[in-house]
Amino acid sequence: MSGNALIISPQTIPDRFVSVISGLCRVAADLSLTIARGSLGQSLGAAVGQNADGDGQKALDVLADEAFSAVLKDCSVRWYASEEQEEVIELDPSGTFALAIDPLDGSSNIDVNVSIGTIFSIYEAYEDPIQSFLRKASDQIAAGYFIYGPQTALVVTFGAGVLHFTLHPESRCFELANSSVNVPARSSEYAINASNYRHWSQPVRAFIDDCIAGSEGPRDKEFNMRWIASLVAETHRIMSRGGVFLYPSDGRAGYENGRLRMVYECAPIAMLIEQAGGGATDGCDAILGQSAASLHARTPFVFGSLEKVERVAAYHDLPENEVSALFGSRGLFRA
Ligand code: AHG
Ligand code: MN
Ligand code: MN
Repeated sequence: MSGNALIISPQTIPDRFVSVISGLCRVAADLSLTIARGSLGQSLGAAVGQNADGDGQKALDVLADEAFSAVLKDCSVRWYASEEQEEVIELDPSGTFALAIDPLDGSSNIDVNVSIGTIFSIYEAYEDPIQSFLRKASDQIAAGYFIYGPQTALVVTFGAGVLHFTLHPESRCFELANSSVNVPARSSEYAINASNYRHWSQPVRAFIDDCIAGSEGPRDKEFNMRWIASLVAETHRIMSRGGVFLYPSDGRAGYENGRLRMVYECAPIAMLIEQAGGGATDGCDAILGQSAASLHARTPFVFGSLEKVERVAAYHDLPENEVSALFGSRGLFRA
């Protein structure tokens, strides 16, 4: 690992966040080099154990978690909550932030050279470590992600719009690329792991059935589908060209609340998406109005272009016979 990545436009970052964002950027720039080396360096995708939630851990999950927690000790972070740690860790007793992190999102894509990322969420620290995170998602004071892809980028909000920085590969500085990211209001693209179709609820099936039926169904238009299996990569695409992402609850054991975790995946993505003018719900209600019941709690998650997220919620309000009927009857949803 090497280097001192800086944000080239510190005036775009509120003063009190400069240190923590610079720390995150330093680690992200190093990770981006490690990821680019791939198998020429250490084995990043090797299975090394299980995290608190029973998910398999890969070498890069652990390496990223260690690198972030080490650097954030000096960045005013009091409480550190990570996907890779069962409990909240105290980093700096005099710090004022509580920071939650998914150090490496999309770990199934590490070995196949597909975009992966880091997601983070920042609150004002309370005295109590757990209560600093089990609170309304709307209490977040900052949220963001790094994407490690063809370009490495930081997309971040401090509660007043969304900023996009790109890591310059030679200077190793994150340079401001867009000071006002907006999710397009309309789009005809959806993202869902369709192999779970048979496990979904009727409203989710009905929404997807109507997309698949295209111009021959009640929506009377064609749709396109994507599934990358990296939440960060899906978010980045939706930030760029709109669309909707769904990871609903389903009938499989352990998926009663979907797959994604509230504290360090859904809450920060929801804040970013809403700050960019999109919507984020659990299928029906806004994520930002909710709080996690436990540190690693999961929630169904639907986010993206506002019109589409509202439409998914409307399918949940349809009477039973409407969602179980063939698409021809859902005249309410034409176009
Ligand atoms: P993580 O690698 O942090 O465990 O997160 C993986 C998540 C998310 O990135 C992605 O959207 C989803 O899991 C993919 O789920 P499926 O494998 O069920 O498609
Ligand atoms: Mn993740
Ligand atoms: Mn992860």
